[in-house]
Amino acid sequence: MKALILSGGKGTRLRPLTYTGAKQLVPVANKPILWYGLEDIIGAGITEIGIIISPETGEEVKAKTGNGEKFGVNITYILQEKPAGLAHAVKVAQPFLGDDSFIMYLGDNIIQSELQTFLETFKKQDLDALIMLRKVSNPSAFGVAKVDENGQVLQLIEKPKNPPSNLALVGIYFFSKTIHEAIDNIQPSARGELEITDAIQKLLDWEKPVKACTLEGWWLDTGKKDDLLEANRIILDTQLSPSVKGEVDEKSQIIGRVQIGTGTKVVNSSIRGPVIIGENCYLENCFIGPYTSIADEVTLIEGDLEHSVVLKGAKISGIHQRIVDSVIGQRAQLGVANMRPKALRFMIGDDCQVELS
Ligand code: G1P
Repeated sequence: MKALILSGGKGTRLRPLTYTGAKQLVPVANKPILWYGLEDIIGAGITEIGIIISPETGEEVKAKTGNGEKFGVNITYILQEKPAGLAHAVKVAQPFLGDDSFIMYLGDNIIQSELQTFLETFKKQDLDALIMLRKVSNPSAFGVAKVDENGQVLQLIEKPKNPPSNLALVGIYFFSKTIHEAIDNIQPSARGELEITDAIQKLLDWEKPVKACTLEGWWLDTGKKDDLLEANRIILDTQLSPSVKGEVDEKSQIIGRVQIGTGTKVVNSSIRGPVIIGENCYLENCFIGPYTSIADEVTLIEGDLEHSVVLKGAKISGIHQRIVDSVIGQRAQLGVANMRPKALRFMIGDDCQVELS
């Protein structure tokens, strides 16, 4: 059994962040989104892992994630020259996958459940495909399944205008080698991509054993700002263990679950968890409210921030109005002259400079 993680694509829905970086490396609770899937796969006992990368962001993904040594697994990087679809990615990965069965994991998905039980079902029942379904309120944005009363999959349609159900395909799939033959027999969709949804439909047409299971627990597809903030909120809520390694002066107040990395200094500030602050940050005269993740090397002076994600090296100073529901890119700089709006909401890309005056 191998695994294939998809970390290509253009990440258009997370622009401007993804103009300069891979969407799968955007951090959730200070950990790249991609690593959640990677750790799930490793947790299921898989050690041969391929990661699909794009020419634009591949080097960054490689540099950050490495050859797998730090995770105790082997990682092989596979270049997909153009974003020609999920099934196209599998095609490109065929030399790596060989005749092995594999888990395919979309690098921007995060799920709560462990993969182990699904893997056992897939193996025990000798399936050609096991898919996961989840009820959603906007099925048209996903691949959608039509199932009968026994849960048997009847039909799969990618991004249907009139969805036959509210059951979306989660971006995690289990396949036998038969999927390669199915992919060889599909045509590009209306959006010009080889869709994995169509390949699984092909398996259904051929009456191959395809099963669906319903995913319990949360599932986050972090493709957009609000989804990213929601993922950040849930992970901080459920997985953050408090620890203070940096320096906190006696005028500061730390309430609730807060993690502060080494080399970080907190001066005359109030931090109300759950909050994670990375290494080598400097915070002075700040209020940091719940559900905030601050990456390494961030400077925050006279800032008031909550339910937000601040990326590495950003600098925010002199903004007394509360910043909420915001994502601030790497090395972005925010300063203020003298104005007092009620609240500020931002989606600020890497290297931006914002001054309110
Ligand atoms: C892809 C799949 C879709 C699936 C979704 C899950 O969509 O094509 O079937 O429901 O991932 O995240 P995309 O992210 O390419 O729009």
